[in-house]
Order: sequence, then structure tokens, then C-alpha cells
Amino acid sequence: MSSAVLPRVNAPVRVSAVGMYVPRRVITNDDLSHVVDTSDEWIVQRTGIRERRRVAEDEHTSDLCVHAVEDLLATYPHVRLSEVEYIFVATTTPDYVYPSVAAMIQDRLGIPTSAGALDISAACAGFCSALNLAAAMIASGQIRNAMVIAGEALTRSVDYTDRATCVLFGDGAAAAFVEYDERRLLSGMDSTTDGSAGPSLYRTATRKDMRGALDPTGLLRQDGRDVYRWVVENVPAAVDRVLERAQMQLAGVDWFVPHSANMRMIEALCKRMAFPPERTLTSVQTYGNKVLLMGFGGGLVTAGSVLTWCC
Ligand code: ACO
Repeated sequence: MSSAVLPRVNAPVRVSAVGMYVPRRVITNDDLSHVVDTSDEWIVQRTGIRERRRVAEDEHTSDLCVHAVEDLLATYPHVRLSEVEYIFVATTTPDYVYPSVAAMIQDRLGIPTSAGALDISAACAGFCSALNLAAAMIASGQIRNAMVIAGEALTRSVDYTDRATCVLFGDGAAAAFVEYDERRLLSGMDSTTDGSAGPSLYRTATRKDMRGALDPTGLLRQDGRDVYRWVVENVPAAVDRVLERAQMQLAGVDWFVPHSANMRMIEALCKRMAFPPERTLTSVQTYGNKVLLMGFGGGLVTAGSVLTWCC
């Protein structure tokens, strides 16, 4: 990565409401042990994962996103759908290629047609990318608020014959309402990209090959070791970029919220960064203050920022 000094960035926004939804169906590690040659012990030891959720046959990403927004509205009645000015949906598993999930959300939730709607494809860095984009649009004055949603029905693209991959992925959605706030509570917005690592994590679509390897299945492919190595080697530098742009030291971060891919990888990350793992991914709603958000995923890409938690 470039060693040039990065300018300070922040945006006049706050996250003022959040919501989430997961499908009802739980897939335990024991359930998976009937599908592939694996065990609860192996999965917990290598990933920390005990269960994941799976969409029903007739349930799609747009449904998960609608429920996440409904959960947000139930908890934060100050948010009015009639005032939403932009809808972002970060997803790699949209119901359709088009219309976008964001456009479907506008219709299903009765958000005014004056709102913009955009799906974002940045894999596991999708939510952070969408948040940063929403903040930039609010900072420019184009909009005053946005509903930022991340939703995936990943189990539809998982290969349940690949034991090293199928244990990791599940379905769910989360929504955040982002609005103008002169206190400038989001800072350090940054993204990085290493397209050369794309074959480490991909899913074919209209194109049926990846670097010469034919795969017409359209299922998620991952070289777990490559991804693990890339994340542990590159994400600490991406975190440094966020902190430099926020003009902060890591010691000033109360909570680190990395993409919750798997605990072993997060623990390795924390070790590299010399950050206490017990201040990672826990109780943000109850305690948080300076929260370092960091997404990383297929691309391979990163996106992050520092949020001053206030909702
Ligand atoms: N159950 C039992 N054995 C398994 C399983 C399983 N589910 N999966 C793999 N193994 C076996 C392999 O077959 C192999 O056996 P062999 O030695 O007889 O050939 C052995 O375990 C070691 O295989 P590796 O693939 O080297 O296993 P590794 O220790 O690397 O663990 C894992 C695999 C968990 C996927 C790891 O590489 C990892 O955590 N990678 C990060 C991927 C990730 O988190 N992705 C999430 C989303 S993308 C992102 O976050 C950017």
C-alpha cells in the first residue's frame, strides 16, 4: 500500500437507528455433520462458529432486508419511512440481477419515489462501503439521510459438498439509518482493493470461468487458507489507514467491529494489531463510543471507518 500521508476525513452524519433480522431456520454444526464429513469440534475449534441461519425456500434477500428495516422501525420510532432519501443495499445475493433489492425495498416499504436506490457489490465489505458512500452523499448535501442495509441469502450459493467452505456461510440482514449531524460522528472512511486476489473468493455468473478454471455452477468458491493469510497480512494495514484518516490511535478505540467471518481469524487479526480480543464484536449497543468498523471480503477488498456510537 502507498505510504503517502492520508488526509483527515470525517462526515456530518450519525447512525441514529439500527435493526436486524435472521431467518428462523437454524443449521447447527451437528446438522452439517450429516451433510459433509465434519464435526462440531472441528468447526468450533477452527472458526468459533456454532450455528448459522438459512432462508426458507420462498424467502429471499429482499424479505430479510424488509424485516431488518421493520425491526429498526419498531425499536426507533423517530425514523419515518416517508422521510428516507436514499436506500443502499449491500448484497452479493440479490433476488434479481435487476431490479435492485434497493428498488424492491422502496416499493415494499412505501418509501417515497423521490428516494434514490442502489445495490452495492463489495462482498463482506459491503455494509462499510455503503455506509461510507451514504456519508459522502450526505456530506455533499445531495441527501439528508439514507437507509443503509446489508442482506445476504448466501446459503443459496454455498456448495454443500465443500466442507471447508459450507461451514462458514449463513443468511441474515441488518439495517442502519444514517442522517445529517453537525457533530461529524463518522470519520476515517477508507477503502482498499487487491483485485489480484480475486480468485481466492469468487462466484461465477454470466462468465463461467475464473483465471482459466471452468466453473459453470455459480456456487461460492473459496481458498480458505489464501483468504485467511490475506486478511491477517493486509487488514491491519487497512485499519491503520482508517485510523490515520480519523487522526486516532488504536488505543483510543473502545470497540473493534471487524467483519465477523470467523473467530480464529479475528483473534489472529487482533494479535497482529495488538488489540485486546475481548473488546471485539461485543456489546456495542450497550457500551460503545469510538467504534472501529472494518469490512473485508471478496475482491479482495476492505472498507472501514470510525463511528462515534450514539443510538
Ligand atoms: N471439517 C473437517 N475437516 C475439514 C473441514 C471441516 N469442515 N474443512 C477442511 N477440513 C480438513 C481439510 O480437508 C484438510 O484435511 P487434509 O489435511 O486431510 O487434507 C484439513 O482440514 C486442513 O484443511 P485447510 O483447508 O488447510 O483448513 P484450515 O485450517 O485452513 O481451515 C478454514 C479452513 C476454516 C476455512 C480456514 O482456512 C479459514 O478460516 N479461512 C478464512 C476463510 C473465511 O473466514 N472466510 C469467510 C468469508 S470471506 C472473508 O472474511 C474475507
